[in-house]
Amino acid sequence: MQVVRYVTDRAPLKGAPRAPEGRYGDLERQEALDLVKKHVKNKNLIKHMLATEAVMRALARRLGEDEELWGLAGLVHDVDYDETAKSPERHSLVGGALLRDLGLPGELVHAVEAHNQCHGIPRASRLDKALYAVDPLTGLIVAAALIHPEKKLSAIDVPFIMHRFKESSFARGANRDQIKACSELGIGLEEFIGIGLEAMQGISGELGL
Ligand SMILES: [Fe+2]
Repeated sequence: MQVVRYVTDRAPLKGAPRAPEGRYGDLERQEALDLVKKHVKNKNLIKHMLATEAVMRALARRLGEDEELWGLAGLVHDVDYDETAKSPERHSLVGGALLRDLGLPGELVHAVEAHNQCHGIPRASRLDKALYAVDPLTGLIVAAALIHPEKKLSAIDVPFIMHRFKESSFARGANRDQIKACSELGIGLEEFIGIGLEAMQGISGELGL
């Protein structure tokens, strides 16, 4: 597993005992979730990060990338949000510094910092591009599920979300241009939405949808 490469030469997130090789991916993930819950009290925001994690993992599978690394980036990407909600110009830089101090891989830290476009940090890697586009996609999909009479992810499909996508007044916070940046990964919008929906349906219990 590729994840072992970047955890074996780094200290664990919180000084927890090291797990045997091969199980480290799970431990690292639990530590990351604990970190998120320690810093973020808003339950909807935690769900947003779980959704982002699930979609990032699915996207990594689709692109043949490092699923553990991409999932971890999604899980922790808004870790500073409670602290920076009132100062968006600090959002993602505070989190990036925290994650760097914890020894997380530089490519993950860069993706976290670059996902807030207000800093003007170029999206260099595929991980940067993926996190940037996935972030608003999860919000769009949640909003689409909530407007459906059943209020369930299982009740909606890609055409339903595509219709909502085209309504500019719907879920304005879900930046359409940012979602369309999936093209930077060579993935079309409909496929991208499908990957996101399927991934989020897979954790619908955790998302309460
Ligand atoms: Fe986010």
